[in-house]
Amino acid sequence: MNRHSTIGARQMAAVSAQKGGDAESLEMVRRPVPAPGPGEVLIKVAGAGLNRGDILQRNRTYPAPDGTQYDVLGLEVSGYIAAVGEGVETWVEGDAVCALMKDGGYAEYALADAPLVLPVPRGVDVVEAAALPEAYFTVWTNVFQRGTLKAGQSILVHGGSSGIGVTAIQLANAFGATVYATAGSTEKCAVCETLGAVSINYRECDFVEAIQDLTGGQGVDLVLDIVAGSYLQRNLNALSVEGTLVMIGLMEGLEANLNIGLLLTRRLTITGSTLWARSIEQKAAIGRELADQVWPLFEKGKLKPIVSSRFKLGDAVAAHQLMEAGQHVGKILLETEHSS
Ligand SMILES: NC(=O)c1ccc[n+]([C@@H]2O[C@H](COP(=O)([O-])OP(=O)(O)OC[C@H]3O[C@@H](n4cnc5c(N)ncnc54)[C@H](OP(=O)(O)O)[C@@H]3O)[C@@H](O)[C@H]2O)c1
Repeated sequence: MNRHSTIGARQMAAVSAQKGGDAESLEMVRRPVPAPGPGEVLIKVAGAGLNRGDILQRNRTYPAPDGTQYDVLGLEVSGYIAAVGEGVETWVEGDAVCALMKDGGYAEYALADAPLVLPVPRGVDVVEAAALPEAYFTVWTNVFQRGTLKAGQSILVHGGSSGIGVTAIQLANAFGATVYATAGSTEKCAVCETLGAVSINYRECDFVEAIQDLTGGQGVDLVLDIVAGSYLQRNLNALSVEGTLVMIGLMEGLEANLNIGLLLTRRLTITGSTLWARSIEQKAAIGRELADQVWPLFEKGKLKPIVSSRFKLGDAVAAHQLMEAGQHVGKILLETEHSS
């Protein structure tokens, strides 16, 4: 056992995606409790967040960065520090934390790099804090760092009811932007409105026309897109002069046609990024900004985790099926026996 650890458990329950395939291919397994190496912490997991990327990993349509396992999925957890590795001075056993990880979250214990661990924000339930890391790191770096969204500007968030969407709406609203969001049902639109967006039901109207109407023909300063494919051209059509399209998802596909002339005449910017493959240092820099500028807003009541459902770790199959059905609003969480 690590010299900084007092945990007694040597085996833990985990959910393995080793087989690959549909949701039913996930299976409960026993695994050794891992020991933290230098710079790592061991977290006694209370909650683990599901992400769309987990589905893609499970069915092997998302190439994993080097060194990432397909066995135990899970990009984010919350819980309590159970042990710290050599050189870790920032956390002590028992601290309530949440963490961004590259894998391993669907388990009773998980390893995280100490610089990617944040405290559970004050006022947030420890299990629900598992809803935060992946979406907040992703939205912060894409909307505010790459997209440079500022107070007084406007943003269109696609998939407004997704885990990413509910985060982007709240953050953009909290930082003084005008927020428009697309969603695929009346119920989902209502949630987007509650969180501070003007909603557009994209199944009932053309979102480009809606944006032109709502902005008096100006378009928006920023589009955060998870769809790609046929949305590429339409997103550009919804942008204002000097506007920026930030692409973070490819739900409709990798390829698209583009009228490049629009880029020139309207001086548009197209960018995108993926969080998973970025270095620990780059992710840690995002985490520091979140801790300084965003985490205090939870205490002030300006932000909150939006949780659709909580499943027991052993019900990961049902949790994946719910995400694939696409009827959820916000985040889907797994919780362990350590949650109570
Ligand atoms: N680049 C990055 O670093 C990064 C990080 C995290 C997530 N992402 C991406 O962000 C997106 C959202 O992730 P999430 O975990 O928040 O997802 P999620 O909670 O599962 O939400 C996905 C939602 O997207 C909407 N949607 C729009 N077009 C769709 C389509 N063609 N197929 C299926 N759903 C569609 C659906 O809502 P409607 O009913 O309203 O259509 C669906 O509920 C994913 O594409 C994910 O890969 C990227």
